[in-house]
Amino acid sequence: MSTHLMEHSIMSEKTEKKAPATPTWGPDKVRTAVVRRLQKNGWRHVYEVRSVYDPATKNTRVLASKLLGKLPPGVDDLNGMVPTDKRYSPVKSAKTEKAEKAEKAEEKASKRREAAVLSALLARESLGPKHQEAPGPDEETLTLCGRAAMRAPSHAKDFPVRLVSIKSRDRLAALYVARLPEDADDESKAKAADKAKKGAGLLALIMKKPAADADPREALEQAVTAGAALQSVLTVLQARGFAAKTVSACDFAEPDGLYDPEAETIVCFILCGTPKKALAKSPDPDLFKGKAKRGVLTLW
Ligand SMILES: Cc1cc2nc3c(=O)[nH]c(=O)nc-3n(C[C@H](O)[C@H](O)[C@H](O)COP(=O)(O)O)c2cc1C
Repeated sequence: MSTHLMEHSIMSEKTEKKAPATPTWGPDKVRTAVVRRLQKNGWRHVYEVRSVYDPATKNTRVLASKLLGKLPPGVDDLNGMVPTDKRYSPVKSAKTEKAEKAEKAEEKASKRREAAVLSALLARESLGPKHQEAPGPDEETLTLCGRAAMRAPSHAKDFPVRLVSIKSRDRLAALYVARLPEDADDESKAKAADKAKKGAGLLALIMKKPAADADPREALEQAVTAGAALQSVLTVLQARGFAAKTVSACDFAEPDGLYDPEAETIVCFILCGTPKKALAKSPDPDLFKGKAKRGVLTLW
């Protein structure tokens, strides 16, 4: 038996014998020893201790320690050992500690990810074009918007929604002007054209028109997909630090390629840009108070 082991494992525990100067076994060889540890009440706990000699530290390293039983005061023979309710007292190996650390780090990272996703959803807010400035969303953000929109749930096999980043405001202005009566004055034309100029960035959410004979539920489900896509786009924009606001669109008789008026319709425009004031990072604490504690959730 070597009490030398205990000097590394449980420094505070009283041991019965002094440690030998050098270990009697080499590196990598696991040694199993039975160790008695004196308790305050005079009993001795008997452990089976598995350890190795570590040449780097010139010391022994305990791999595991298992409580076998306890010896009454004055009894040395292991046959006189009685069971103890302290069933198992493992001493963590370096490997276990490393795994535990990694597990804790992963748990922390996972909590951080969860918090980020939840606050992106719970703290989303619209910020209109008056509170926005250039630049609008960069290409990477726009790509993420397109991808996130595509992940909206859809009953239809062919995804019924697409997102268009409008690069030419002049072309859109022309569409608005074209909606005016032929004899519209310049002021009205300028006002109509201005509608196309709002927001540093401008996105159009386009949805397939359901077939004329489609079940009304099909149309409803498609609109749900469009709404979910819209929410994802707004969430991505906010997560990437951009302000956004959804505004109504209108039908254009000849949309100049923006969409196919026979098969598609514009759901809305999304005006987006750099926020002039800081965006909410966490949910508004007043938003979910009282009756709104559960948001729009009720029980039935
Ligand atoms: C399809 C759609 C069209 C909208 N059109 C307009 C609009 O034309 N003008 C407006 O002020 N708000 C419009 N809104 C509402 C705003 O985008 C915004 O959701 C609302 O002001 C509530 O703000 P919040 O998103 O911070 O809760 C629209 C919302 C949706 C979903």
